Amino acid sequence: MSVRNTVCIAIDGEAAAGKSTLGKMLAARLGYLYFDTGVMYRAVAWAALQRGVDVHDEAAVTSLAEEIDIQLALPNRESGQHSSVFVDGVDVSAAIREPEVDQVVSIVAAHPGVRHVLRERQRQIGLTHNVVMVGRDIGTEVMPDADLKIYLRAPIEERARRRYLELRARGEEISYEQVLNSMRQRDYLDTHRAVAPLRVADDAIVIDTGDLSIEEMLAHVLEIVHLRVGARL
Ligand code: CDP
Repeated sequence: MSVRNTVCIAIDGEAAAGKSTLGKMLAARLGYLYFDTGVMYRAVAWAALQRGVDVHDEAAVTSLAEEIDIQLALPNRESGQHSSVFVDGVDVSAAIREPEVDQVVSIVAAHPGVRHVLRERQRQIGLTHNVVMVGRDIGTEVMPDADLKIYLRAPIEERARRRYLELRARGEEISYEQVLNSMRQRDYLDTHRAVAPLRVADDAIVIDTGDLSIEEMLAHVLEIVHLRVGARL
């Protein structure tokens, strides 16, 4: 039994597994806050690139994570798909999705110091809101007592195809092979880091998103939510 009087639904999984699509729709249906924790790691990675901080230097990147002010705003019509993200007042919502950030974000996210700083901020939000929280370590580290834990899976070729189409639609000059390689590298770093690696929590429900439409996935998860968390909704 949780000591919180708010509900937390954790969604974890590899890159482009469908976490944000499902998370946003689920949060909208339940009237919960949608919180994509990946944007915080992306914001730190972006700031490091911007200021010329060596992404391999844990002490320097951790100080940076402590220093910068990361503000998140809920998705709105102007920002389109993603929630708006501000670093020291600058809107970086689009910049943090650039391939350059993809290249270094998992290096930044592997530093224990960085994870410590961001995890505390994430936990504050997780403990005080009805929230759908999306990331890599939500069910295992950030909110281990989440009311429901979902782990999304899909074959890497399918995930890379989705991300490739997203990037092309935004006008990025990138090939499918580049996206596939970058994603493979990121998955490797995320699953092999020493602290809070991506893994399936013991009590998570694993869903394969490869063969499911978004509507099917949402219907399936809503059913699970009502069964598992129904009494608390
Ligand atoms: O959207 P996509 O799944 O490609 O990535 P993301 O959720 O925006 O996360 C970007 C990166 O941040 C991941 O590859 C991880 O290295 C890191 N991350 C993490 O370590 N822990 C989290 N809870 C969320 C993201």
